[in-house]
Formats: sequence, C-alpha cells, structure tokens
Amino acid sequence: METRPVPAFNGIPALGLGTYPLSGQDCTDIVKMTVGLGYRHIDTAQMYGNEREVGAALKSCGVPRGEIFVTTKVDPSNNGKARFSDSVKRSIDDLGGPVDLLLIHWPPPDAEIDATLDLLKAEQVAGRTARIGVSNFTPRMLRQAAKRLPEIACNQVEYHPLLDQRELKKAADALSLPLVAYSPVARGRTFQNGVIKAIAEKHKRPPSEIVLRWIVQQGVVAIPKTSKRDHAASNLNIFAFELSPDEMTAISGIGSSAGRTINPGWMSGRWND
Ligand SMILES: NC(=O)c1ccc[n+]([C@@H]2O[C@H](COP(=O)([O-])OP(=O)(O)OC[C@H]3O[C@@H](n4cnc5c(N)ncnc54)[C@H](OP(=O)(O)O)[C@@H]3O)[C@@H](O)[C@H]2O)c1
Repeated sequence: METRPVPAFNGIPALGLGTYPLSGQDCTDIVKMTVGLGYRHIDTAQMYGNEREVGAALKSCGVPRGEIFVTTKVDPSNNGKARFSDSVKRSIDDLGGPVDLLLIHWPPPDAEIDATLDLLKAEQVAGRTARIGVSNFTPRMLRQAAKRLPEIACNQVEYHPLLDQRELKKAADALSLPLVAYSPVARGRTFQNGVIKAIAEKHKRPPSEIVLRWIVQQGVVAIPKTSKRDHAASNLNIFAFELSPDEMTAISGIGSSAGRTINPGWMSGRWND
C-alpha cells in the first residue's frame, strides 16, 4: 500500500468505507480492519440495519471516536415529524454518540421537502450531528435544499463513469457543495469498460483505482464498499497518483443516463426534474 494523506472536501474525508450490505460480526470486523488500514470515514444508514455493528467497531477499533468521520442517513419511513427525531436518537445510541454527518437518505414528496429539511436542522441544533446533508437529491431539489439550509454539507448520489451526472455536478459546483459518490465503481461494472481498462494498463493499476481516482480528482468524495483487505488497501492508493487531463476527459465521456445502478420506483420520473 502506498500511503498518502487522505484530503477532505468540505470537511468530509475524500475516501470512506461504504457499509451496505455488511451485517453482523462481519460488518464489525470489516470496519475495524479498514480503520486499521487508515480509513477515517465510515458510511452507514438506518436502512442498512448495521448501525449497532458499526458502533461496536468504532468502540473497539483503538482509534479515538473523534478521529473517525461517521455518516448515517434517516430512512424514508422516518421522514415525518412523528418519527424523525426518535429514529436519529436510536441511531446515535447504536453508533455510540453523535455523528459527523446526518443525511436525508431519499427525497420525500416535493410538498414535504422543506419540512423534512427543518427536521434535519433540528437534529443539528440538538447536537446529534455536526453536519447535515442530503442524498439522492436532483439539481432542482438541491437548489431548494441549499436555499432553505445554506449550511448543508453535501449531496450523496450515485456517481461513477458509467452514469452521466454532469448536470448534477454543475448544480452542486454552483452551490459550492461537494458530491459524495455512492456505488463509485458501479458494483464492479466499471471494470469491464474498454477506456478504463486501457488507462489501467497504462498506469499498471487495477481499474478500481482508475475509477476511484477519476472521482476524487474532481473533488467528489468516494465511499466504495469492500469486504476484502487487499481491495480496501488498494482503494487507498488513489492518493498516490494522478490522471492526466486527457485521461480525465476520456473517462468523463463514457457515461450515459442509462448507467444508473440504483433506481427505486419512487424516483421514477423525478431524476431529471
Ligand atoms: N445514499 C444512497 O442511497 C446509497 C445507495 C447505495 C449505496 N450507498 C452507499 O455507498 C456504498 C458503496 O456503494 P455500493 O456498495 O452500492 O457499490 P460499490 O462500492 O460501487 O461496489 C461495491 C462492490 O465493489 C467491489 N470492490 C470495491 N473495491 C474493489 C476493488 N479495489 N477491487 C475489486 N472490487 C472492488 C466490492 O467487492 P469486494 O467486497 O469483493 O471488494 C463490492 O462488490 C454502500 O456500501 C453504501 O454505504 C448509498
């Protein structure tokens, strides 16, 4: 492993561990293993059902909790006033204390977006999270969120070379808001792409490092999930090399609107509004 310091974008470490679908003791062991390798950013969610296991890892990993950046997300079923705050209290109990970043996991219906943002803000005021942000917000929703809460820290979205997210990136850049890339290697689909394979061969690095480097070199945070020590170590190598402007442009030309991995029914027709 070629260790280099991990930069932060808007206070968010540029590489984190995604924890879906890790569960049980495996989840605790893998989080501890990656902290041992130098990871200082862990991404979980109420929806993943593993906050308690992540919390157990944070407690026993040997690194002070204050040195690890932890994100969790409020499940859509908890978006209403009746459940939001109690669900966050349960999350932070399971995680062993306040989090660094709390996200609305999926946008509520349009008429409820502002009210849900206000519930999120109340959690920050109550000290249960240092930062607040959103996930899966479209450009229009992101502008609405930033108008309501100029302090939001990020939009976590699907982001990898197979998916054209240029409109969303432009909207986020205009608001000086970083994106956080989920499914950053498209669950392995990016590794088969010819452009990426050719650049990987030139750099004598695996396609995974090329894809993750392309993401962070744009100022986008990446949170790949892995259960394997050698993959976790390799993913940290992305801070030890650079892609040329031509390589960045070539990879940026791959994506299309059909490249989405995660597309739940309740977002159909909403992505491009
Ligand atoms: N906000 C949201 O709505 C949302 C939605 C989806 C995901 N997420 C978050 O984003 C995280 C990542 O997304 P994801 O799990 O969907 O997809 P992903 O990270 O793109 O893909 C995960 C897959 O990539 C493989 N992988 C990772 N590093 C590798 C490497 N160096 N070499 C070879 N294979 C590698 C892993 O296999 P191995 O385990 O074998 O290494 C795993 O099968 C999730 O865990 C979750 O925390 C958020």
